[in-house]
Order: sequence, then C-alpha cells, then structure tokens
Amino acid sequence: MDDVAQIATAAGPSAAPNVDSSGVPYKRITVRRLCGALGAEVGGVDLAQPLDAEVVAEIRRAFYDNHVICFRGQDLPPASQMAFTRIFGKVEQHPLYRSAQIDGFPEILVLEHKAGEYYNGRNDIWHADVTFAERPPLGSILHCRAIWEGFGDTMFANLCLAYEKLSDGMKRALSGMKAEHSAAILLVRNNRDKYNKPIEDIPPPVLHPVVRTLPETGRKALFVNSAYTTRLADMTVEESKPILDYLYQFGTRPDFIYRHRWRVGDVVMFDNRCLWHYVANDFPPQMHRRMHRTTAEGDAPA
Ligand code: SIN
Repeated sequence: MDDVAQIATAAGPSAAPNVDSSGVPYKRITVRRLCGALGAEVGGVDLAQPLDAEVVAEIRRAFYDNHVICFRGQDLPPASQMAFTRIFGKVEQHPLYRSAQIDGFPEILVLEHKAGEYYNGRNDIWHADVTFAERPPLGSILHCRAIWEGFGDTMFANLCLAYEKLSDGMKRALSGMKAEHSAAILLVRNNRDKYNKPIEDIPPPVLHPVVRTLPETGRKALFVNSAYTTRLADMTVEESKPILDYLYQFGTRPDFIYRHRWRVGDVVMFDNRCLWHYVANDFPPQMHRRMHRTTAEGDAPA
C-alpha cells in the first residue's frame, strides 16, 4: 500500500489528496472531503458541458463514497441539470407537488423564498424526502440560484455513521424490523401553509425496513425519519415513539453532520437513502433564496 492509500484508509477520505476512502485515486476530477462525517467538494468539472464516461464514473464514485457532493460556481441551464441527474437514474417529479415555474421542465421543483415574503419554515425538520413512496428517491440535486451566503444553510446527517455507532444490542433489536411511512403530515403542512397547490390525495402508507443496505458499498443506514415515519410495524404509535425518538436524537449528533453554507452557483447532490436533511430557518425577510431541485428515482429499500 502506498503512502496516500495508507493515509486514506487510516483517517478516512478527507486526509489524503484526491483519493477515495479505499485509497483509489481520482484522475479526472478533484475530490476534497468537507468534514469528517460526510460531504466532498468536487472540482475540475463544468456540469453544463457533456461529461464523458470516465468523468461520470468518477463522479458516481465520489457520490457513493461521500453521500453529499458539491460543485461550486456552476451555471446549469435546466436541460443540463436534467442530464446531470440522469447519471444517477430516471428523473422523477415530486409525487405530490407540482411546480410549473420553469416552462418545459415539470420535473424541476423550484424551492423559492422571495424577498419580503414571510417564511415560517417548511424544511426545518430533519427528514428524508418522499419515504412514503414504495420506491423513495435515490437522491436530489439542488442548484442554488439565489442566496445570501450564511443564511438558509442546509444540514445533512449521515445515517450510515449513526447506524454504525449504535450498540450491537440495538443493531440486533432493529434487524429485520420494519416501519410505516405516510404522507399524511405533508398534506396537513402543505394545505395549512398554502404552499404549492393543495394536496387532495395521498398514497396509502408503506412499510420499509428500519435499516437498509446501500448496494454500491454494502454499508447499512437507518431508514426512519421524523417527517414521514408514523410507527414501527406491529407496534402502536405509543410503543414506537420512544424507540423512534431515540433514533432521531442519536442520528443528529453533531459528529454525524455536515452543514452546507450555500453560494450562488452551487450544485449539491445528496443521497436520500442514508441522510436526513434540514434547512436552517434563519431566512432574513429580504433574502431571496431559490433552489432548482431535480430528483433521481430510487429502489425499494432492502
Ligand atoms: C429539500 O429538498 O427538502 C430542501 C432543501 C433546501 O432547500 O436546501
């Protein structure tokens, strides 16, 4: 093993220059770990240009290794954002929200807070997206079009790391357990806050494993979240609550978190299968914050 690989293996992907966590170098892109828990900044790529197979393979490797990847200084027209998203899977529309703000691109969800608007927080809750679906998204790409740097940061919690730090007893207890996920709360919040079009119907609740395995790396991740998980299977809501609350509290330990401070032009892709995210509700009233979000389809969790 050479020096670079030794450093990478001993200290994680951030310690060595431009190698992944197994010590394999990147040749066409630069990858710089952002913190111990997760996240990497990727350089050497203009996402608005066609990407060749070798670059695509390296971007995918960086994503699966770091769970969040960030490209700075991009200017991504909607068609290019769609093309980039397809690297990871079919682009899917949000099953309940419809946003018609970019003509010809119904798959792009515009998340916007306009200057002067009252913001009462829509995503200031630790959550994974759309886990009430049979096949929740693999991940989403957020392209920052407007922000005041240092406000409206997005935080990500690494649930592979959280799972790995649980005791063996807790891991055994969770093994084979399933949990119910429902969109009911989304309907309530959306219609109460008059955000987007009213939601009339929601899909029936689904059961997913409490711990899922990521096929690319074999790592296990907690797969419950405080937005959509209603209870553990075969248990009442009351019985489930202390266990779920413990996992929610444990999963947000500061050492599992990366906080992204947005700049205009950032493109951030996050893995929805093994992360929670949370948007800091500190928007100054005059701030314009605009994100273009695309989502890549995922698989049934297993
Ligand atoms: C979300 O995808 O839940 C919102 C992310 C953000 O606006 O930073």
